[in-house]
Amino acid sequence: MLYVDGKWVEPGEAVIQPEDRGYNFGDGVYEVVRIYQGQFYHWDGHMKRLIRSAKELHMTLPWSEEELHAIGLELLKKNQIGSADDAILYMQVTRGAAPRQHDIPTGDIRPVLMAFARKKERPLHDLQHGITAKLVADIRWLRCDIKTLNLLGAVLVKQEAKNAGAADCILHRDGIVTECSAANLFAVKNGELYTHPANNLILHGITRQVIIDLAKENGITVHEEPFTTGFAQEADELFLSGTTTEVMPIITVDEKPVGTGQVGPVVRKLQELFEANIKQSVNV
Ligand code: PDD
Repeated sequence: MLYVDGKWVEPGEAVIQPEDRGYNFGDGVYEVVRIYQGQFYHWDGHMKRLIRSAKELHMTLPWSEEELHAIGLELLKKNQIGSADDAILYMQVTRGAAPRQHDIPTGDIRPVLMAFARKKERPLHDLQHGITAKLVADIRWLRCDIKTLNLLGAVLVKQEAKNAGAADCILHRDGIVTECSAANLFAVKNGELYTHPANNLILHGITRQVIIDLAKENGITVHEEPFTTGFAQEADELFLSGTTTEVMPIITVDEKPVGTGQVGPVVRKLQELFEANIKQSVNV
């Protein structure tokens, strides 16, 4: 069961206005929240980012964080997601319906909230063994810090990686690595972490921040600075981070091994720390 514009509906029953700007322009924002054992992981961070994304698009959300939380909880209940289940919650807000024009309509326009929750297992096999990646030009726009519904750039770069037989892409702008199609990227060199600074060229990932905090608390130096594709190819270890991907090792880039070609010790350590963070978070 989904929540669509104030109603609880089954997928086939949802009504979307043909001139909803989310549908016509990708004019809206979204979040994907992880649920471990029936509980939201870093709910506050996701809500803060949703509100910020909306603000950057000059949208004010008419729902309080408490109302969004209540809808999220109700979705878990209505979809029988309980304390034994890992799942995701998807929430999107479009600007609403108005006669088509490019600039933002003034006057009566009501944002539309759509949300669903579904069971989703953790990618344990890939976390254990790692995945492959391909370097792909970052063709996305210059406001990747806003989590908008406009995801065609992400669709095309991921497909380019898939067509080449890789699981994901490592994106670069003129040789500077940014992130992945739906995750942030970290390199490990001499036991230290490197990741692109949180500016307009990447999404400021919730998982990225969790990892940076955990690394620093555990004496691992973190450099938030741009690095080249050459640096990534020469890294000892590489991994991506995201809500559904967690701390995901990358073992080859363009079919060449990263470091030893095996999942490395720093990634394993961060996976352990992340696991402990999940346990701590769902036990609160
Ligand atoms: N993607 N970078 C991009 C471009 C993303 O789309 C995402 C998340 C991330 C990681 O952010 P976080 O750690 O907050 O999930 C980084 C979500 C999961 C998605 O679109 O499905």
